[in-house]
Parts: sequence; C-alpha cells; structure tokens
Amino acid sequence: MLSYRHGFHAGNFADVLKHLVLLDSLHYLAKKDKAFCYVDTHAGAGDYALDDAFAQKNREYNSGIGKLWSLRDVPEAVAAYVNIIKAFNTEGKLKRYPGSPSIAQHVLRPYDRLCLFELHPAEIKALNQNTFKDKRVKRFHGDGLVESLPLLPPIERRGLVLIDPAYELKNDYRLVVDALTKMHQRFATGTYLLWYPVVERRRIEELERGLLKSGIRNIQLFELGLKADHPEQGMTASGMIAINPPWTLAAQMRQCLPWLAEVLAEGNEGFYRIETLVAE
Ligand SMILES: C[S@@+](CC[C@H](N)C(=O)[O-])C[C@H]1O[C@@H](n2cnc3c(N)ncnc32)[C@H](O)[C@@H]1O
Repeated sequence: MLSYRHGFHAGNFADVLKHLVLLDSLHYLAKKDKAFCYVDTHAGAGDYALDDAFAQKNREYNSGIGKLWSLRDVPEAVAAYVNIIKAFNTEGKLKRYPGSPSIAQHVLRPYDRLCLFELHPAEIKALNQNTFKDKRVKRFHGDGLVESLPLLPPIERRGLVLIDPAYELKNDYRLVVDALTKMHQRFATGTYLLWYPVVERRRIEELERGLLKSGIRNIQLFELGLKADHPEQGMTASGMIAINPPWTLAAQMRQCLPWLAEVLAEGNEGFYRIETLVAE
C-alpha cells in the first residue's frame, strides 16, 4: 500500500538539493543541439499547490524554497533554480511548487522527450491532468524501476534518468541499486540521478557499498544536511548520487552546498558532502 504523498514535502530542503542538481544537469544536456530523453521513474503529481491541506500540514517548504525565495546575492546555480520556481509563480508570491516533471518540461526543447512513471492512483491522475497537453510527454501508470528498463537506451542515445523513490519500504535501498545496475548495463552513457534521504545513516552506507560493488564508474555524491545524523529525528539530510554527471556539476555544487548548508540549517549544524564515489 502506497501512503507517501509528495504534496506534504514539496519545496522542502530535500527538494531544493534534488531540483538544483536536476536542473543543472538538464541545462547541461540542453546546451547541445541534439535531442535527449528525460526519464522520471517516480514522477509524483508534477505540480503542487502550497496553500492546500497537504503542504499546509507541516509547511515544509518554509525550510527550503521559502528561505531562498527573496534572497539576493545567491550562487549562480541557486539563482537559476529559484528563477524557475518563480516562473511558476507569476504573481510574485510563492504559491506553487513544480515537481521534477514540470521542471524538466520547462527546460526541455520541442524535440526532446519525457517519459514519466508513477504508481500511486491519485498522483498519476494529477500528473495526467498536469501534463496531458504536452505532446513531448508519455506517462506510465506503473513501477518506474522495472517498467522504464525497456525504454533504455532511448532512441536519441542521450538521456537523463531521475530515480526519486520515497523509500517507504526498507527494500527500496537495495532495489534502486539493482535497477541502476540493470539500467546502466543497457545504457552505459546515460546520466543517472538517484535521490536518497538520510534517516538512518547505515542504510546510505549500504547503498554506497552496493554502488561500489556494481562495477559502475564515474559516480559522484552530493549531500546536504540540516542537522547531524540522528536516528530519531526523521530526515536530517538528503543526497543526490550522480552517475555520468555533467563535468561542470561538481564545481557548481562546490559553490552552492556550503552556502545552502549555512542558509537552510538552523544554528551551526548544517553540513554537506561532495565526493567522488567512483572515478571515471
Ligand atoms: C518523492 S516522490 C516523487 C517526487 C518527484 N520526483 C519530484 O521531484 O517532484 C515519490 C513518488 O514515487 C511514487 N512511487 C512509489 N513507488 C513507485 C514505483 N515503484 N514506481 C513509480 N512510482 C512510485 C510515489 O507515489 C510518489 O509519488
């Protein structure tokens, strides 16, 4: 039974890191005048109203985009990210938060394609409503980790796969490594972005060990934490693991993550990691 709804969390500090890395990677791919395919294995609804009951429950966006919304003098990649969120809020007030599919729709060109997977019946319905007018988009109501495999490699031979599960089941930490290994066997030159939450650090250490054992090369890790690891405080940090990232991504993150750790964390507990897990 799926109970996770991203509307509760849209725009929080984890979305900031995730969408910052995603946006930077999409912009990089879109620099070249050759089509590419964006695959989102866990797409969610695509667009979130921040004044609805979900977002208002804990107002998590206040710990993320809400803190960045009015700041000036921000690192270049953060400014690009905030500007995209502003493009969805044309009245100048933060009322909506675009999910990963909407951010990708915004960056992709008319000749690029999006393949979006979502399992939750209510979320796929919302995703359909939010994207049906866009002819570049194909939506799939199913398990994105399994059903995206036959789409790889994409006909364009250029592509980015975002894997963004909610990790409701502990098994998910293992399943993402298995899925990435299979995807990479089919499409070794693709860019892959895997999001993870730090709730129990040992699960992330296992995930990292799994990736090291997979034989996949060129893996970088970017993590942003608001508090030191604590097993009883929920998600204290989150990260993005990037396989075949744009060569410019690490430099961008070196500018953004120290700054974000200071601006988004309360007190002095913020931290970040920028690591090469496996070299090219
Ligand atoms: C973290 S949310 C996605 C947020 C979205 N990627 C974004 O950044 O805006 C995870 C989504 O995955 C969906 N989901 C869970 N298991 C799935 C699976 N096996 N395949 C596809 N979607 C799944 C959930 O219903 C939820 O909407």
